[in-house]
Parts: sequence; structure tokens; C-alpha cells
Amino acid sequence: MIQNDHHIYVIFGASGDLNKRKLVPALYALFVQNLLPEKFVFLGVSRTVYSDADYRVAMKAAIHEFKEIEDASRVDEFVEKIHYIPLQIDDAAAYIPFKKQLEDLRTAKGIGGNTVFYLSTPPSTYGVIPKHLASVGLNTQDDGWKRLIIEKPFGYDLQSALDLKEILLKDWKEEQLFRIDHYLGKETVQNLLVTRFSNGIFEPLWNRNYVHHVEITAAESLGVEKRGGYYETSGALRDMVQNHLLQVAAITAMESPSSLEPIAIRNEVLKVFQSLRPILPEDVKTHAIRGQYVGSKIKQEKIVGYREEPEVDPNSMVETYAALKFYIDNWRWGGVPFYIRTGKRLPTRVTEVVVHFKPTPHILFAHSAEAHTCNQLVIRIQPDEGILFKFGMKTPGAGFEVQQVNMDFHYSDLTNQRIPSAYERLIYDSIKGDSTLFARSEEVVAAWTFLSPVLDAWKNDKTVPLHGYPAGTWGPEMADELIEEKDMTWRYPCKNLADDGLYCEL
Ligand code: BG6
Repeated sequence: MIQNDHHIYVIFGASGDLNKRKLVPALYALFVQNLLPEKFVFLGVSRTVYSDADYRVAMKAAIHEFKEIEDASRVDEFVEKIHYIPLQIDDAAAYIPFKKQLEDLRTAKGIGGNTVFYLSTPPSTYGVIPKHLASVGLNTQDDGWKRLIIEKPFGYDLQSALDLKEILLKDWKEEQLFRIDHYLGKETVQNLLVTRFSNGIFEPLWNRNYVHHVEITAAESLGVEKRGGYYETSGALRDMVQNHLLQVAAITAMESPSSLEPIAIRNEVLKVFQSLRPILPEDVKTHAIRGQYVGSKIKQEKIVGYREEPEVDPNSMVETYAALKFYIDNWRWGGVPFYIRTGKRLPTRVTEVVVHFKPTPHILFAHSAEAHTCNQLVIRIQPDEGILFKFGMKTPGAGFEVQQVNMDFHYSDLTNQRIPSAYERLIYDSIKGDSTLFARSEEVVAAWTFLSPVLDAWKNDKTVPLHGYPAGTWGPEMADELIEEKDMTWRYPCKNLADDGLYCEL
């Protein structure tokens, strides 16, 4: 880290859960690896009143509880860099003394104007805090860089996303904005780029000539836990598809960038978003399936349904499962269906991309049942991160029986080094000013535009069913019908990359 990158890392929402669980442990991990500059201050800001000393005690406990890195020997040294300022974040006048306190801290620590403002606060504050910061000049870069980090959701629908974009861009430049999509910080999502573009063998096959369809799954075994209140305003489509899964789809589908410059990569991602074929209102029923988990019993344990969860409306129509079929209208992908599904209370926690290749032009071993199975390349994002290739081999013995076999590589075999968490990677990039793994405003708008017909129909068209599915199953059966081809289904992945099957791992 070069010395003039010394800075203050300001976290709004510093008394909140995300800060405690992810942000502070990630900053500590960076500190231990000597990736923070010598002159560095972590400044916690929120409404709650803490003294520096009390806040340090709380953060020290958080670092131990949500450990990101084994080495705990430098926690005391790290917490010395932590300071705290209470602030009524919606009171414009309060930003005048806040600025003064910030400047006093800078002077005392010999740090110039470089500042990251991380909003770990509810989305309703995204319009407010940046405006108030700008009103006292904390957006100007004459004395050093200023960066603003916001967490998803970036808006609630297209209109609110456009409004947010306008509010932010009034006072801040696009290059100052870092929109966190933590999926982009996952090692294995980045590995998709390396797998695709560092190997000569995949790219020639990675197109409509050889790929039959692409399937992306993000399954979670947990329910909504304590987040019923938030989830009621969101649902699976907004929570997972609009951001994480469309980003993964874009990285799977993008063209090779001309360089590793952030702009070169983000331009290619944006082109994918812009090529998403709009889903027509009359096609919503056949291209999008929604579901909601209902109570069930798993291994003698009663699992409550979504409507029985805390802070959830007993008549809620919010989807906890969403599956989508869509097309990317460009030369590479013309006519190739992409299927995305995500849900809570599914049989296991797994995220993966499956590239299904086309069948051979002539099925020579037609008598053999498994000869009809097509090759699949599974890119596992989590857990058991790795790559699995499924292909046919001769069953030993008489005749020509085909058997599908697995060739798998597990990411854990690559290194015994720890894999940094998504937040650690993204926080580090935000400090370096590298925006490659952050979403640009055009992408956000394009994603909302694409999903608008589905969101509208799910909200307003009472004839669109919300299918119940028992907790611990793979979602509504109707979702199987999205996949056009007879005899083809979703893959039913298990915790171990090489396994699949319909059983529940809960
Ligand atoms: C978050 C969603 O963005 O991603 C959560 O709000 C979801 O509902 C989480 O559980 C999944 O992230 P991960 O990293 O556990 O796959």
C-alpha cells in the first residue's frame, strides 16, 4: 500500500449487524496482512452514543466473534485505530459539527483528505447521507479522494433506482460511487473470468453452437431468519436475482474484455445487461415462476412456513423462491435459454453455474440410457468451490454401454492459503479505488428494466400463481416446466460438488 493512500474509513451504521459481522472483521484481516496504510482511521458513525473506548470494546468482541483470520495477536493494536462519532444522520445541521470533528481527527492523525464513506445503513438513507455530506463539501476531492460505498438494494424498482441514481449523481461523480454486490467479491465468481479467459479450450465452445442452455442456481437452506421485516419489502427476485444472479449470469456470458482495466471489464458486463431480451407481460407466466415455503417436518423437526416467520404478514404474497427463463440477444447467445433459480428453505446451500452442452449430432449408442445425457460443466461458486465436468465413458465389459462420469477439481486443492471473504476483497478494492467488482449505475438500471414486467405482474396480476413448496424441497414443481426440453430438468446439486440428487441435506 503506498503511503499517500492513508485515509479515514468512515462507516455509517456502525452500531449495526453488517458492520459487526462483516466489515470490522474484514478490516482487521486486512490490517493483519499489512494491507492497510500506516496512517489509517476506522471511524464508526451512527445514532447510538458511544465513547471511543466503549466502541472499541464492542468492536474487539466482534472481531473475536466473527473471526475472519486466525491471527488474533494484533487486535489491541488495531482497535487503537478505531474512533467513533455519534450523528443524527438525517439532521442536515449536524453535518457541520461532524465535518469539524472529522477534520480534527485528520489533523491529529496526520491524514489528508482521503476518505471512504461506507453506508451500512437502510436504503432509505441513501438519498439523505450523501446529500448531507455534499452539503458540507465532504464530496469534494481537492484535498484527497472521496469514495461513497453503498450496499444493495439499489432501489426497489426501476423508478426508485432512477431516482436514487439522479440523487447520487447530483453531488457525486460515478467514479466516486462503489455499489457493493458481495457476490462479485467471491473468489469463485472472479474465478469464472480466469477459467473462461485463461484457457483456450472453453471459449470456442462457449456459445450458441455448442451450448444447449445455461443454468444458474443459488439455493439457501435457511429461511428468512430475523429478516422477515426486510424480506417483506423485497422477495427473492429483488433480494437475489436483480443483483447477485444477474451479475453472475453476465460474467458467465460476457465477451472477453480487451484488458483487465475496470472500465474494460464493466463495459463487457454492461453489454450483457443491455442484451437481455425483455420479458413481455404476456410471457411472464411462462418465463417466471414464484413460490413461497410452507411449513414442513424435516428429520422430526418442525420447520415453520414463511407466513409464520416473525415480522411476516400472515397473508403475505412475497416470494421466497424465484425461477426465470430468459435470453441474451447477441451473436454469441442468440437462442440459448438461461435459467436462473433461487430460494430460501431449499434442501441445501449451494450456488453454481451449469453449462449444458448440446447432444452429439448423431446418437451412436442410442440403446444405452446414459448416452442421451449431455455434457455438463459445473462451476461451483459455493460450497466445495470448484469445477466439475460430466461426460460419457464406456462401461467396462461387453457391448457399448455408456456411463456418465465426473472429472472434478476442488478449489481447496489449489492452495492452503485462506480465501479472503467477499467483503475483505471489496473493502480492499474500495481503498485502492479499483471499481472492477462494483456495479455501475447503467447495469443497475438495465437489471431493473429487465425485471420490471415480472415485478409488475407479480404485484398486480392476481392470476399469476404463488406456488407453495414445503420447506426442504427444491421449490415449486412448476419450475421444472420452465425447462423446455423433454427429459431435461434442473440439476439437483448437493453440498459436495460431484454429488447430485433430490434428497434434503438439512
Ligand atoms: C444477501 C441477501 O444479499 O445475500 C440474503 O440479502 C442472502 O437474503 C445472501 O441470504 C446470500 O449470500 P451468500 O453469500 O450467503 O450466498
